[in-house]
Amino acid sequence: MSANYKIWFNGKMREFDDCKVHVQSHALHYGSSVFEGIRAYQTPQGTAFFRLDAHLKRLFYSASIYRIPIRYSFDELREACFEAVRSSGLRSAYIRPLVMRGNCGLGVIPKDLDAVDVSIMVDSWGAYLGEEGLKNGIRACITSWQRLAPNTVPTGAKAGGNYLSSQLIGFEAKDRGFDEGIALGHDGLLSEGAGENLFLIKDGKILTPPSSASILGGITRDTVFSLAADLGMSVLEQTLSREQLYGADEAFFTGTAVEVTPVRQVDHITIGNGGCGPLTKRIQAAFFGLFNGETQDQHNWLSYL
Ligand SMILES: Cc1ncc(COP(=O)(O)O)c(C=O)c1O
Repeated sequence: MSANYKIWFNGKMREFDDCKVHVQSHALHYGSSVFEGIRAYQTPQGTAFFRLDAHLKRLFYSASIYRIPIRYSFDELREACFEAVRSSGLRSAYIRPLVMRGNCGLGVIPKDLDAVDVSIMVDSWGAYLGEEGLKNGIRACITSWQRLAPNTVPTGAKAGGNYLSSQLIGFEAKDRGFDEGIALGHDGLLSEGAGENLFLIKDGKILTPPSSASILGGITRDTVFSLAADLGMSVLEQTLSREQLYGADEAFFTGTAVEVTPVRQVDHITIGNGGCGPLTKRIQAAFFGLFNGETQDQHNWLSYL
């Protein structure tokens, strides 16, 4: 698939069709890439990245786990994200920094540790699970595929290879007619969605599986912790069963792509009122308020273009 926008690739903006990697690239064979998904929103004060530094920090963390050297500094990549969004001309955008092991021979342990390519793509991206889902909730199922067990592959690092698990979870959900799949951890307890963190609300308490539940520590998840506190509520991280999700008053997903999306049904069981629950609505409003000016950016999460 071709497109007519430019990509920041190995140090400068280049034409879409000029951004190529070799078939011997290690990342293609062994999943050795790390990446981020970041959004920039159109706000009354202009276009602003949302939590850019937190995303870049996670990118460097993910790379460190797999010993992938990034030859650009944090500030250089930060500036590159600005350059890529400016060049796109978009007012709201999805930004995809990608660091991948390049052409370094066929062995699993790369022969040239420094063969690393870095790109930053920018495109427009609407509501990941649809506008209707964002407003009234999506239908999810618990999949037979579980998340990676601890001490197999680290789920806190956002690596390309981890998304094989997400693909299996997502495909199974679609095949069964659902919008998205939720996976259990190796212990049979709730983990997360294919590409999003999960929250449920019961008797006024906001609950979410802990970081030890084989989840990616989502930046939107962390945002919800702060927004809930700002609203006088708190979030409890605790192990949760599938049954607790079925019996929840409300449930929602968080993620850069899904933002804050209500879950209205799980395995054909209606959650709460079967739409966007009242507390989810408040959290969602606080979240989107950051971009329409109704929520004060008191945590300095926005970086203006
Ligand atoms: C598996 C998985 N969990 C959770 C998330 C949510 O993370 P974030 O809020 O940082 O986008 C994502 C998206 O990046 C993801 O891919």
